[in-house]
Amino acid sequence: MKQIDPIKKPLRGEISVPGDKSIGHRAVIFGSIAHGQSRVGNLSGGEDNQRTVQAFKDMGVKIWREGQCLCIDGHGWGALSAPKNTLDCGNSGTTMRLLAGVLAGRPFTTLLDGDASLRRRPMQRVIEPLSRMGARLTGREGKGLAPLEINGAKLTGIEYHMPIASAQVKSAVLLAGLQAEGVTTVEEPQSSRDHTELMIKGFGGEVTIHGRRISLHGGQKLYGRNVEIPGDISSAAFFLVAAAIIPDSEIIVRGVGINPTRNGVIEILRRMGANLELLAERMETGEPVADIKVTGGPLRGIEIGTESVARTIDEYPALAVAAAFAEGITDMSGVKELRYKESDRIVAMTEGLRRLGADVEEREDGMRIRGRRQLQGGSVRSFGDHRVAMSMAIAGLRADGGVKIDDAQCVDISFPAFFDLLGKICLP
Ligand code: S3P
Repeated sequence: MKQIDPIKKPLRGEISVPGDKSIGHRAVIFGSIAHGQSRVGNLSGGEDNQRTVQAFKDMGVKIWREGQCLCIDGHGWGALSAPKNTLDCGNSGTTMRLLAGVLAGRPFTTLLDGDASLRRRPMQRVIEPLSRMGARLTGREGKGLAPLEINGAKLTGIEYHMPIASAQVKSAVLLAGLQAEGVTTVEEPQSSRDHTELMIKGFGGEVTIHGRRISLHGGQKLYGRNVEIPGDISSAAFFLVAAAIIPDSEIIVRGVGINPTRNGVIEILRRMGANLELLAERMETGEPVADIKVTGGPLRGIEIGTESVARTIDEYPALAVAAAFAEGITDMSGVKELRYKESDRIVAMTEGLRRLGADVEEREDGMRIRGRRQLQGGSVRSFGDHRVAMSMAIAGLRADGGVKIDDAQCVDISFPAFFDLLGKICLP
């Protein structure tokens, strides 16, 4: 049980958050399939990124640490070899779905497995397009669930109209497309994070993007490079919300990635009345970055409809906390996808916030939250979900009795130093 006490003073200070988890996975993948050496700076120390690193080590790629950098000695697709054992993706959906795209075109059989949470998450969404490209993928009991067996094959490019906006599915198809004969085109219903597309270009490849249509040719050669990973906006979000809900707080989160396909949380917090300033905007290895200054003050409830879903998908739990302290009602809709994350985040956040005394209504595709000035506090479950644990910790800062969180250690998935940093900005 982790105890978070209510704070006595506003939050103050300057912090940096771990490197972006999504970009980290991709840097390791592209470094491994490119030709030549890549050096990756600021890879998060979280377990998820380590799963991807270990998977490529298990496939024979030489990857090692040199000071703060992760060095990868890539020798192209052909240098990947069949792993001796099942590749363990742990809790990481991105590892499993992107690896499915990598392995679909490799001439060997691989097993991908994960923890209990990952075994519950839908894999049919990658099985379907990758099978159409020519690979053979089998999920447990034919239900599209992990463990997955992947029999790689010679692939052919497809045109794929994605039924849901998912950067993981898009990336899996593009990774397979790089190994396929001909052109692969993906069309998304809403633009999802574009780190894969940016990275293919950064590693010397070509991708054509027309709105939500993305195409590439198979057989391109990619070249190793240095990548500096920006701070993860999805990790920064907990601190942005914490400062926003605690009156008179003022914090700066340094070096945060503000890619337009990821910055929904900034726009939504501003719509709720929060004061967020972007300072020192700059580009780092093809990704926009800024220092974000937040000052705390009153928030108001708003409607968060379908238009922001893809750009905000991982930030709904933190935003639910902001809504619980806002004046009026916040209506979140069109986010049924939250039910298929590391936990069912609609269930987890509804239960957790209610246990602290918040007024939350669960909806099939979202939540309706009536804000209150103060919550009473209590004991909550993390559901083993890192983002639920961190959201509840932030809520506890403003709840009269604080919060007790079970299994709070799961923050290690993306943010092992979370509680230390929280301590740093909470003045005694
Ligand atoms: C991710 C895509 C999103 C996001 C996940 C990371 C990625 O998942 O929720 O945390 O790195 O591509 P979906 O593709 O399922 O939307």
